[in-house]
Amino acid sequence: MPRRIMKNADFEGMVETSDEWIVQRTGIRQRHVAADDETTASLGEAAARAALDSAGMTPADIDLIILATSTPNNTFPATAVEIQNRLGMHHGFAFDMQAVCSGFVYAVATADLYIRGGLAKRVLVIGSETFSRILDWNDRSTCVLFGDGAGALVLEAQDGAITDRGVLAASLRSDGAHKDKLFVDGGPSTTGTVGHLRMEGREVFKHAVGMITDVIEATFGEAGITAQDLDWFVPHQANKRIIDASARKLGIAEEKVVVTVDLHGNTSAASVPLALAVAVADGRIKKGDLVLLEAMGGGFTWGAVLLRW
Ligand code: UT7
Repeated sequence: MPRRIMKNADFEGMVETSDEWIVQRTGIRQRHVAADDETTASLGEAAARAALDSAGMTPADIDLIILATSTPNNTFPATAVEIQNRLGMHHGFAFDMQAVCSGFVYAVATADLYIRGGLAKRVLVIGSETFSRILDWNDRSTCVLFGDGAGALVLEAQDGAITDRGVLAASLRSDGAHKDKLFVDGGPSTTGTVGHLRMEGREVFKHAVGMITDVIEATFGEAGITAQDLDWFVPHQANKRIIDASARKLGIAEEKVVVTVDLHGNTSAASVPLALAVAVADGRIKKGDLVLLEAMGGGFTWGAVLLRW
């Protein structure tokens, strides 16, 4: 996480808002905001090193890096390549994946397929974002919602017929008909500028729960399980009300839901790996647990991954 923490009260002198409104409507209490020397690459590097330490590996063991981000350091090269270089890794390959808030879920599903296809043995999957750089700090309807951060995990190929470990099922979706409901109003091929995030929050909210629960039910169907079989639900952390409504509709017990939106705000592609990291570090998620990841965001994109930790 970036060093600087911004509390809800810190917005009160900047835009017309209140801690009470933000907590009631979103569940967010604070978010981290990157300093000038903290970037998507530097945060991603730190998360990558932490994941490698926790896996007992070094960069030499990795042959693919997939970075989920919508806030790259530069338009190109891919920030994944910059992280590869920061890790002192000059073998293998690295690329960015852009699916906004669903980026990490897309990246885990993609990493799994590279492993199954024999193109990679150990994949470092990172979600890293600096949304503070693309926020309109005068727009109260968006600037209070997002934060910066990075999380990562390592997926490893294992020999033999392992049928109940790692990624068990995944469902990914997108529908560009909704592209104007959550977007950035700039880009290299249009305005030649970076642009600012724009969102019709109420419209996104209206679609979120239905899309999330549909894709999760598809994933349950593919894996032949029900909500009762889950140990942990690690959803995208955009809004506590969306998380609660989705869990309720799916019949997932409240105590199985990992919530970090209060601490991190919406960190887009970093939100799921950050929530995972918190629940692994505090001992909730243990080896052998059945874990469901889910995300929904700009595009719209949405998806779910079921894995055995
Ligand atoms: O990660 C990608 C996915 N993104 C999401 O999932 C976000 C989805 N959307 C949301 O989470 C919610 O729609 C928001 C949190 C963005 C907004 O909550 P809401 O309950 O849908 O509120 P609203 O947009 O209907 O706005 C209610 C009122 C409006 O005032 P009026 O028109 O009722 O007078 C807004 O202008 O709240 C006002 N408002 C604010 N008031 C104080 C909007 N932002 C703020 C603010 N502080 N920061």
